[in-house]
Amino acid sequence: MSNAVAATIQPSAVEKRVADLLGRMTLAEKLGQMNQVSAEGPGAVEALRKAVCEGRIGSVINQVDPSFVNELQRIAVEDSRLGIPLLIGRDVIHGFRTVMPIPLGQAATWNPDVVHAGARVAALEAAAAGVNWTFAPMLDISRDPRWGRIAESLGEDPFLTSRLGTAMVAGFQGADLSVPGCIAACVKHFAGYGASESGRDYATTNIPENELRNVYLPPFRAALDAGAATVMASFSDLNGVPATANRFLMRDILREEWGFGGFVVSDWDSIRQLAVHGLTASDRDSAFEAVLAGVDMDMAGGVYAAQLSALIEDGRVPMEVIDAAVASILRVKFRLGLFDRSYAELQRYPSPSEDDKRRVAHEAARQGIVLLKNDRGLLPLSPEKTRSIAVIGPLADDPYEQLGTWIFDGDPALSVTGLQGIRDLVGNEIEVHHVRALETSRSRSTKSFDGAVQAARASDVVLLFLGEESILSGEAHSRADIGLPGAQAELVRRVHEADKPVVAIIMAGRPLVLTEVIDDLDAVLFAWHPGTMGGTALADLLFGVESPSGKLPVTFPRAVGQIPIYYNQKHGGKPPSPDTAILIDDIPVRAPQTSIGNTSCHLDAGYRPLFPFGHGLSYTTFGYSNLRLSSPQLRSGEALAVSVEITNTGRIAADEVAQLYVRDLVGNVTRPVRELKGFQRVRLAPGEKTTVTFRLDSGDLAFYGRDNTLMTEPGDFQLWVGGSSEAELRAAFRLVRAGTGGTSP
Ligand code: NOJ
Repeated sequence: MSNAVAATIQPSAVEKRVADLLGRMTLAEKLGQMNQVSAEGPGAVEALRKAVCEGRIGSVINQVDPSFVNELQRIAVEDSRLGIPLLIGRDVIHGFRTVMPIPLGQAATWNPDVVHAGARVAALEAAAAGVNWTFAPMLDISRDPRWGRIAESLGEDPFLTSRLGTAMVAGFQGADLSVPGCIAACVKHFAGYGASESGRDYATTNIPENELRNVYLPPFRAALDAGAATVMASFSDLNGVPATANRFLMRDILREEWGFGGFVVSDWDSIRQLAVHGLTASDRDSAFEAVLAGVDMDMAGGVYAAQLSALIEDGRVPMEVIDAAVASILRVKFRLGLFDRSYAELQRYPSPSEDDKRRVAHEAARQGIVLLKNDRGLLPLSPEKTRSIAVIGPLADDPYEQLGTWIFDGDPALSVTGLQGIRDLVGNEIEVHHVRALETSRSRSTKSFDGAVQAARASDVVLLFLGEESILSGEAHSRADIGLPGAQAELVRRVHEADKPVVAIIMAGRPLVLTEVIDDLDAVLFAWHPGTMGGTALADLLFGVESPSGKLPVTFPRAVGQIPIYYNQKHGGKPPSPDTAILIDDIPVRAPQTSIGNTSCHLDAGYRPLFPFGHGLSYTTFGYSNLRLSSPQLRSGEALAVSVEITNTGRIAADEVAQLYVRDLVGNVTRPVRELKGFQRVRLAPGEKTTVTFRLDSGDLAFYGRDNTLMTEPGDFQLWVGGSSEAELRAAFRLVRAGTGGTSP
């Protein structure tokens, strides 16, 4: 997939051209640049052509017919007075035509290269349709699996989200945005959207500044430092001021602290919604609040177009604010090289072969599927020894539902379903009994269950394809109960009674609470929504062509009532432990109030998740040993080498994701019990041993303290390396000030 090299315009030349254009623009033309339009309804397309011609539009959203996009660009460049090309925006979130696993599934690969490759394919396909701007990656830290948009996130951890988010930005944008096939990224939703109360979409968020800075903002900072071109303001209300009007977020932090020079777009109609929030009383006041807060472009709301000129005439909004917004939008257009090539120019886009694109989607699905459980080594199935299998469930052969939440342009005709993948792999060697059993994942009718049980009885092993349809996760699709929907738990019970080994393959847009069914399942592969090539990847894993190697990017709760539950929680003053945590049935009748331990846990769920962050089994086993630090002390400004030996102690070759966690024992503010600080994917042959080395910079240990400034605080740290956030191999070191010779911090 080579990229043709385009000439990048020098920054100073860009500034000159921006200033020149600004100097020649009328107010209407300036406000046009700040206006993004979606053409919907009768007469909209004609109106769009006219508005583009008159310079009243800077960006169009959701147009992907290349000939129409070309026509609009031609009108903008040739017929409008100043010839300014358009930004063409689209939600290209996890693929365009070829669909990659949902972002949460990609995060489970813990592989920046895989994430990068997926975004590259998506960019190339989207660019060929005329799209030059995507609204991705979503970098919202997501600790609540009830929230439907967790599907679109990279999980609960700031470090993992930062690493994978920057890889996704690089995949979309390439090294140079002006190269054909590169599209501008938009990091979203700035900021804190993932903390929506009770996981209900668009709900209020309350995040103390310290937590905002330590947990929610780092992925944005990392992606912007890596060159992400644009930012989207969140729909949500942050501490009483909706993000779309939040000066603290967009002026103080984004522009002043971080020096962001790109532009901010609102979310869809979120400027007008400031009045719905009750922050403003009119559209005019909403436009005033948003523009002063630093929202440069109005997505599909029309409020800027209708209100800004009056605000300028009244002197409430200074012209410099408008000029700065327009300049930042024009800069991105120059960065994209649009003034030199605004048309889709299909023939100029490097076009990977269908096989190449499918290989990328296949690898992403394969590395992201997580083996949660595998009792008595049931998996992998032996193609030689297995004579018959029952393939049961609503998601076994549904080319659409495996694709996931954001698939405006995805093509289900390209999908390989689980059933198809198995048939492709085993041919006629194994007898396959397929029963859908439930019409959809939500169906409650059990009338086909007898057929499913019969198929199970007639087979050596049962493959149960369960989970959620695509529409049950994603934007505005939050759930309060995140068990298997419909009659699926009943299906598990009935099939279990057939007394055959049962493997569940679960496709879903979020972690599910599997407590009710887990004991009736011998093995569980959690596939997320795995995208176009999900079935091929699943067949590979089921029959041992490859070992599972995905690791959870998010904690799986035992019960909904544990949410929020995440690995990097605070220690608290009364932490639970296996010795002190007491469960409801263990409490003696009339036990006195203080007799039962008084530690932080739920009487009916304990304190541990069903599966922890970082968990994921393999068909082999890995031993971790010989954890060594280059020094027991880390001087501020320097780095520590942390090495560990990993041995494949099993009988097959496989990948392992080694994870490094630290704990800062005493802090200016309390610190998490563990924090991910490094990870590496390694491949080991049976019996092979390798040494993995992590570099830990003192800067990696920095955090925002009581006064919300970044600090690197001397003191003692613990460190763990292993295959999950529950890794046990441990070492300790001390962070000391630069120039300190002794052992005291
Ligand atoms: C609303 C969503 O919140 C946002 O993520 C998306 O990019 C826009 N709509 C555009 O479709």
